[in-house]
Amino acid sequence: MELFYVSLLCLFVLLVSLSLHLLFFRNRSTLSGPLPPGKTGWPMVGESLEFLSCGWKGHPEKFVFDRMAKYSSHVFKTHLLGEKAAVFCGSPGNKFLFSNENKLVQAWWPNSVNKVFPSSTQTSSKEEAIKMRKMLPNFLKPEALQRYIGIMDHIAGRHFSSNWENKDQVKVFPLCKNYTFWIASRLFVSVEEPTEVAKLLEPFNVLASGLISVPIDLPGTPFYRAVKASNQIRKMLVALIKQRKVDLAEGKASPTQDIMSHMLTTSDENGKFMHELDVADKILGLLIGGHDTASSACTFIVKFLAELPEIYEGVYKEQMEIIKSKAPGELLNWDDIQKMKYSWNVASEVLRLAPPLQGAFREALTDFMYNGFSIPKGWKIYWSANTTHRNPECFPEPEKFDPSRFDGSGPAPYTYVPFGGGPRMCPGKEYARLEILVFIHHVVKRFRWEKIIPDEKIVVDPMPIPAKGLPVRLFPHTA
Ligand code: HEM
Repeated sequence: MELFYVSLLCLFVLLVSLSLHLLFFRNRSTLSGPLPPGKTGWPMVGESLEFLSCGWKGHPEKFVFDRMAKYSSHVFKTHLLGEKAAVFCGSPGNKFLFSNENKLVQAWWPNSVNKVFPSSTQTSSKEEAIKMRKMLPNFLKPEALQRYIGIMDHIAGRHFSSNWENKDQVKVFPLCKNYTFWIASRLFVSVEEPTEVAKLLEPFNVLASGLISVPIDLPGTPFYRAVKASNQIRKMLVALIKQRKVDLAEGKASPTQDIMSHMLTTSDENGKFMHELDVADKILGLLIGGHDTASSACTFIVKFLAELPEIYEGVYKEQMEIIKSKAPGELLNWDDIQKMKYSWNVASEVLRLAPPLQGAFREALTDFMYNGFSIPKGWKIYWSANTTHRNPECFPEPEKFDPSRFDGSGPAPYTYVPFGGGPRMCPGKEYARLEILVFIHHVVKRFRWEKIIPDEKIVVDPMPIPAKGLPVRLFPHTA
């Protein structure tokens, strides 16, 4: 009898092993090469700590460069944020990912983002989310944004006179956040008065600081506070949307006065309008996507202009020419923005050296081969701007600040990617360009400045920011 049970057990073990082998074999069948070289680090945490700590020390590029040198300059494997991952490097890596969007790969965000970020499937189906993404660029394309330049200029004037003028010293990063949020509140939902803007900003800051955090939904954790703040802002936005619908119906609001009006009055290709909650989610998504990124960019422009007086002179000269060509008090317009070529080259070089987003994740939709290596379905793939931005093959003398790199036809395709590329390229690129140029116009026409902490540390978490917020001493121009 005992022998019978032992034989049965052996048979069972054999069957299980065979099934596992078959399963394994079938899963591997479409992958004919080895996995990319690299190491997967500690159980569970993988190499997340090394990845994050390179950013905290101000050198996010070190994580990728060390591994590119050790394993492969094209692709290496790692384990990040609880996921098996491959990092695709250089312009061929960018090209591959940006051209295979929704074919071999799709967007992927860490769990914490998925739970608080509204573009997830919480309120709409996946197809709905894709449809929305298609619509988003309509509200943010240059033609739609042209009429907002004067408004940006007006808000910038208010921001600078209340926060910068008559001060000897300022801390730049918090002020840049105030600037970009004020503009967004006005242009997205027509909230302009500082007390009203502050009511939106308070929960928004809580949300932003818990967005990339450990997703533990327990009272007291940053993640818990972020989810609560996200619901609070959604409620505030829905209230604004309901009021706007009434105002539009009664002719008290215009269909073009802001992005909220645009979204409410634009239908999709089937004639369907967006649901109130979807509009709220889209606006919140734009606020999140555009706030810290553009604030980081404006802060680094101030930093580099403080360090490079000859570059400051070029920008100052260009902006003064524009001022001279205008009547006193006349607001900036589209033609003025087109004249800010050198200023935009400078901003572009800042975005090369200090990209607000270091890269982004994708998920493999299926097994596929890349560069002779197998990428299994479900793996996460990371593209990193630094693998091209700081690569001497793409940008000779990459550490040198040289705005002339953007003259003529500019950098080679897939090498300059601060806004990503392909179908998921940042839909706020043009909006960001305008608010950054308006910021440059206002800051250089008023002041020169010097850094108070000459070698202030940079922390990248996840955006680059000077550790002490970039305090500067201001020297107003004597007219
Ligand atoms: C200097 C400023 C900015 C930079 C450097 C930047 C960069 C980026 C990058 C790299 C991506 C990810 C692309 C990818 O997944 O491959 C992205 C996505 C996104 N950005 Fe921006 N961005 C900036 C400003 C803005 C602004 C002002 C807005 C809104 C008005 C915005 C809205 C978004 C949105 C909604 C997405 C997600 C798009 C999607 O999921 O398809 N961004 N941005």
